[in-house]
Amino acid sequence: MSSESRLKLGVNIDHVATLRQARYAPMLRSPNAEPNVLAAANEVEANGADSITVHLRLDRRHIQDCDVFELRENIRTALNLEMGNTQEILDIALKVKPDFVCIVPENRREVTTEGGLNVRNADTSLKRNIETLQDCGIKVSLFVDPEVAQVRAAAKTGAEMIELHTGAFANASPDGGKSELKKIIEAAEVGNGEGLQINAGHGITVSNLPTLLQTPYLAELNIGHHIVSRSLFIGLGQAVREMRTLMDSYPYPVS
Ligand code: PXP
Repeated sequence: MSSESRLKLGVNIDHVATLRQARYAPMLRSPNAEPNVLAAANEVEANGADSITVHLRLDRRHIQDCDVFELRENIRTALNLEMGNTQEILDIALKVKPDFVCIVPENRREVTTEGGLNVRNADTSLKRNIETLQDCGIKVSLFVDPEVAQVRAAAKTGAEMIELHTGAFANASPDGGKSELKKIIEAAEVGNGEGLQINAGHGITVSNLPTLLQTPYLAELNIGHHIVSRSLFIGLGQAVREMRTLMDSYPYPVS
């Protein structure tokens, strides 16, 4: 299958940096500072990833500024920078020039991104910052819950893409999962009708992916925690390959 027409896989390698920071945060320049984030990116690229996703958080708990610049210079696929809607990270994004950014809500005390952006009630800075990024040649995605009102609001901002938050689906019981899947499918249909590229991510695993693939109009999935966790047991390359293989059974056309 050509990489142009397949459902794309963005691998989020934040947790490679989480492991490095757990030991080496105070001495990043040590020759022992590992695991190496760029080496991990190259490994996932070699095994079928279409893009590398990193979240530069305000608290810098995992990915550091230097990681983002190093990835920009040295990866051969696309760089997707997840970022909160803040001036500090916007300024860095404009210097790094990732291929695309995904704007996410960010709270300092959350363990991971907890919900989608509230685009409906966003202040004017969101639209302004989207335009600033686009003027710099960076495509913009908004991370939203699978709610029709949020999807329509996202389309009005001028962003090219949305990433549907699949966390509620992923963490639901099998029964709850069905109603969450319905919401994702409806959001994808509405988003496609609005002319948005539809991506999805959060909590995706090899177990829940086959069900998620019932969603039409998907262009890209962003997957992190499960791949990095699986890599402890089967290796990073194999963890990417098994996800890639499952994704290749996506039954809908991808443009
Ligand atoms: N997409 C977004 C916007 C995220 O914030 C995250 C988590 O960093 C992911 C995808 C990946 O989620 P997970 O690590 O659960 O696969």
